[in-house]
Amino acid sequence: WFGHVEPAAKDPILGVTEAFLADPSPDKVNVGVGAYRDDNGKPVVLECVREAERRIAGNLNMEYLPMGGSIKMIEESLKLAYGEDSELIKEKRIAAVQALSGTGACRLFADFQKRFLPDTQIYIPIPTWANHHNIWRDACVPQRTFRYYHPETRGLDFASMMDDIKNAPNGSFFLLHACAHNPTGVDPSEEQWREISYQFKVKNHFPFFDMAYQGFASGDPNRDAKAIRIFLEDGHLIGCAQSYAKNMGLYGQRVGCLSILCDDELQAVAVKSQLQQLARPMYSNPPVHGALVVSIILGDPELKSLWLKEVKGMADRIIGMRKALRENLEKLGSPLSWEHITNQIGMFCYSGMTPEQVDRLTDEFHIYMTRNGRISMAGVTTGNAGYLANAIHEVTKS
Ligand code: LMR
Repeated sequence: WFGHVEPAAKDPILGVTEAFLADPSPDKVNVGVGAYRDDNGKPVVLECVREAERRIAGNLNMEYLPMGGSIKMIEESLKLAYGEDSELIKEKRIAAVQALSGTGACRLFADFQKRFLPDTQIYIPIPTWANHHNIWRDACVPQRTFRYYHPETRGLDFASMMDDIKNAPNGSFFLLHACAHNPTGVDPSEEQWREISYQFKVKNHFPFFDMAYQGFASGDPNRDAKAIRIFLEDGHLIGCAQSYAKNMGLYGQRVGCLSILCDDELQAVAVKSQLQQLARPMYSNPPVHGALVVSIILGDPELKSLWLKEVKGMADRIIGMRKALRENLEKLGSPLSWEHITNQIGMFCYSGMTPEQVDRLTDEFHIYMTRNGRISMAGVTTGNAGYLANAIHEVTKS
């Protein structure tokens, strides 16, 4: 039966973690996967999460959640994305379901798109998180791309992006990173978002926001939702994938939310029921534990402010590591400009290193990262910034 099955290619991100774990070297450094580490390189469980778990202990039954997931978690997620006092929430215009983190939310949306808008395509930025391509591919939604990043400036290629938005057929679907673009760490400015939103209006495009890093760009979740809020002010219907993997450190809990803003409540009820229908034959209903943790934290003013403090702490440590890495490279006399390390934001630095240079980092220095040159700044620590800078200098100097 299975003789024809060839081994799958290694995942370009999670495959890096596998290789890192298999390396016995004491010097090894993992700046591959986007997962936060403390300054000792250790995974972090937030204090607010620990407290939520203390409150859950002993009180949790193991019943199924509804097909659409935890109502409380969804309510809190919508406030976070659409704004605490959003009229749209009061008008019940948002169809939302709990999702298996950001990936699950994107996939559910892609499946919904295929089922109910079968003639549409998805425009995906180049570059983007590698899994975005897999998600829409497996949902059988045709993909187009739009330009986003300028390799020379290591910044946004705004003019080309706008051209591609203008040249796409009216009513196209676009995947946008709400903040802290993965892998580049390059976001449009507020002014640029306004122009993008205006052009989307002109073209009647549909924006689907993947918001995997809310809080990680600026340290303030409200500020990081600015792009979405601009589109809402301009009266767009939108879709949004939220994840609590990064901003609450709930990676393995797979907790997130998919929301779709509709014209009215009636439409929202119908859309939600169809999202649930998509979930039912796939995983029936989502897991309960992480959803409860999120509900408790966001539903309790004290725990929520502790969470906000902790997100800011993570964002600030990363900003500190950007400075440290850049300073170390400059001290070594690197002839290249490393300004983009501190200009880019969020969890990643898109270093500009070639796949061959990355291979050398891995082979000669036991430094593990994705071959597109992306450095997960969350894996940089006071202890390894110098080692990392030295290795980067060695492979880039000639
Ligand atoms: C990443 O980009 O490293 C993260 O989003 C983890 C993943 O699932 O790829």
